Amino acid sequence: MAVLSASILDCDTAFIGKTVMEAERGGVDQIHVDVMDGVYVANLSFGPKNVRDIKKILGDQVKVDVHFELLYPERYVDMFAEAGADVMTFQLGSCFHPVRLLDQIRSHGVQAGVAINPADSWEGVKYLVDHMDHVLMMSMEPGFSGQEFEESVYAKTGELQQYLQSTGRDVMIGIDGAVNAERAEKFKKLGVEYYVVGNAIFGSGEVGDNIKA
Ligand code: DX5
Ligand code: ZN
Repeated sequence: MAVLSASILDCDTAFIGKTVMEAERGGVDQIHVDVMDGVYVANLSFGPKNVRDIKKILGDQVKVDVHFELLYPERYVDMFAEAGADVMTFQLGSCFHPVRLLDQIRSHGVQAGVAINPADSWEGVKYLVDHMDHVLMMSMEPGFSGQEFEESVYAKTGELQQYLQSTGRDVMIGIDGAVNAERAEKFKKLGVEYYVVGNAIFGSGEVGDNIKA
C-alpha cells in the first residue's frame, strides 16, 4: 500500500493547523516535517514544538514524518521522539556513525531511514540495509520546496530496487522532491512505495483535490 506524506515546508505556516487537518481529511498517511539548521541547508524551518503541536491535532491514523536536513542529527533524535515523531530520516553524510544513529532512532520505536541526494550513489546505503526501514531518494537538492526535478533519480531508483530485491531485505523506497501525479506513476513502476509531496498538494488549488490527483 503506497504511503503519501504531505510536506508542509511550503504551506502557509500562519494556518498550519488548518492545513494539516485539511491534509488529514484529504486522506494523507503522514505529515512530512522538514527540520533544517541553516548549515547543512541554507534554510530554517520547523522544530520539536511544531511536531508536538501537530501531533496533538492529528488522529492516530496519520503519522508525523520528520526529515532531518541538518548536521549531527544524533543530537535531535531523542527530542523529536519525545515530541511524537513516528518516522525519522536523516541525510547520508550528515553524521559520522549512521549505523549507530539508525539503531538510536529504532530504539524509540520510530521508523528509521536515510535520504540520499541527487549526486549520491544508492550504494551509499548498501551496508545500512540491515538497520533501516526505508531509503528516501531526493529528486532535488534539499533545503527548499518547488525546485527542478532531477530526471537521473529514475535510473538510480531502479538500480536500488534491483539491489534490495537481490538481498530480499524489506526496505521501503521513498521519493522526495518535485513529486507530482505523473512522476509518481513512473516511480510506482520502479518499486517506490512512499511519496513525499509538498508543492503539488499545497502549492495551489484545493488540498483535497490535489491529494486525490
Ligand atoms: C526539501 C524537502 C521536501 C520538500 C517537498 O528540502 O525535503 O520534503 O518540502 O518538495 P516539493 O514541495 O517539491 O514536493
Ligand atoms: Zn523532505
